[in-house]
Amino acid sequence: MTVQVGIIGSGLIARLAHAPGYTKAGAKIVATADVVESRAKKLAEDFDIEHTYTDYRELLARKDIQAVSVCVPNHLHKEVVIAALEAGKQVLCEKPMAMTVAEAQAMLQASERTGNMLMLGFNNRFRSDVQRLKKFIDAGELGEIYYARTGYIRRRGTPFGWFTVKEESGGGPVIDLGVHVIDMTRFLMGNPRPVSVMASTYKKFGHYTMMDTDAWCSSDVKEGLRSGEEFDVEDLACALIRFENGATIVVEASWASNIPQGDSVYSQLCGDKAGAQLTPDLTIFGEYEGMLTDKKINTATRNAHHEEIKHFVHCVETGSQPLSTARHGVEIQQILNAIYESAKLGRSVDIAPL
Ligand SMILES: NC(=O)c1ccc[n+]([C@@H]2O[C@H](COP(=O)([O-])OP(=O)(O)OC[C@H]3O[C@@H](n4cnc5c(N)ncnc54)[C@H](O)[C@@H]3O)[C@@H](O)[C@H]2O)c1
Repeated sequence: MTVQVGIIGSGLIARLAHAPGYTKAGAKIVATADVVESRAKKLAEDFDIEHTYTDYRELLARKDIQAVSVCVPNHLHKEVVIAALEAGKQVLCEKPMAMTVAEAQAMLQASERTGNMLMLGFNNRFRSDVQRLKKFIDAGELGEIYYARTGYIRRRGTPFGWFTVKEESGGGPVIDLGVHVIDMTRFLMGNPRPVSVMASTYKKFGHYTMMDTDAWCSSDVKEGLRSGEEFDVEDLACALIRFENGATIVVEASWASNIPQGDSVYSQLCGDKAGAQLTPDLTIFGEYEGMLTDKKINTATRNAHHEEIKHFVHCVETGSQPLSTARHGVEIQQILNAIYESAKLGRSVDIAPL
C-alpha cells in the first residue's frame, strides 16, 4: 500500500528535499500546510498535492495521512511534532530536533508514550560517502576511533530571517550547521555518549549585505515579508566535545568568517589502525608492511535528502526502527546546548546521562 504523507511547513527545505524526496520514494503527498497560504498552494501546484491548509492541525486531523514531515522553524518543532505524534502520525522532524534539551526530551517522551516513530532529519548520515565509510568502520578497518575533527564553515552564508533570531532558531551556525557535522561524525564513531564540552562562540559580522549571499535566507526574507536585519546569535563557534569512551571531536561552524569562499564541510577521523577523511575524496589512511597507504573509495553521488526520506518511508511501511532516532536527537541537542552554555560560562560543562 502506498504510504500517504503530509508536509507541515512549505518553505525552502520542504520544496528542495521533502516534496521531491517523497515523490521519488513513491509515497503520496496528500496535503501540505503553511501559515503563508500562497507558499502551501505553490508547493501543492508544483508537486501535485491535492489539499492545502493554513492550520497544520487540520492536516493532522486527516485519517488518510500516516506520516508527516515537520519543516517549520525550530521554535515550532516541539509543538508540531508532539501534536503529530498524538494525532497518530509517524514523524520525520527536520534538524535541529528542538531549541532546548527539555523540549527534545518532551518530544522523545511523546514518541515513547504514543508508540509512534520520531525520526530526525540528519540527512548527512545518508550521504553515499558516509554510508560507505561506516561499512569500513563497522568492519573494524579503522580500529578504535579516538579523535575526529569536523566542521561546516562559510565565508558569507548567513541565512537571514528567523534563523538569526534566537527566540525562533535557538542559536546560530552551531544549531544550523554544526548539528549536521557533529551528528555525522558521532554517527561514524558509533554514537558515543557525550560527557563534556568546552566551547567559544563569536558574533563579529551580524547583519550584512553582499551580492550572492541570499541562498539560504528564510522564505519570508526571500519573499520580502521580513527585512532579515534582526540578528542576536553567534556567527562562528568552535568546540571540543569529549565522550564517555574517551574519544574527542573538535568542531567548528560558521555562517560568516574570513576564509576561502564557499561552504566547506569536512570530517577527518583518527583510528588506532587507520584514519579517514570524507573530503575532497573518501580516503582511508593506513599502513601496509611498513608503508603508508592512502586508499581512495569510489562513491556514488546520491542525494542524501532523498535517501533519508526513502529510509523514512521504508520505516513507515515496515515498522522498522529508523537510523536516526529521537534518542540520538536528544543527545545531539545536549551537545548543542552545552556548546552555548560553555561559551557563556567560559569553562567546560558536563553533560549528564539521559
Ligand atoms: N536538513 C537540512 O539540510 C536543512 C536545510 C535547511 C533547513 N532545514 C531545517 O528545516 C526547517 C525549515 O527551514 P526552511 O529553510 O525550510 O525555512 P523556511 O523559512 O524557508 O520555511 C519554513 C516554513 O514554515 C512555515 N511556518 C511557520 N510557522 C508555521 C506554522 N505554525 N504552521 C505551518 N507552517 C509554518 C513558514 O511560513 C515557512 O514557509 C528548519 O528546522 C531548518 O533548520 C534543514
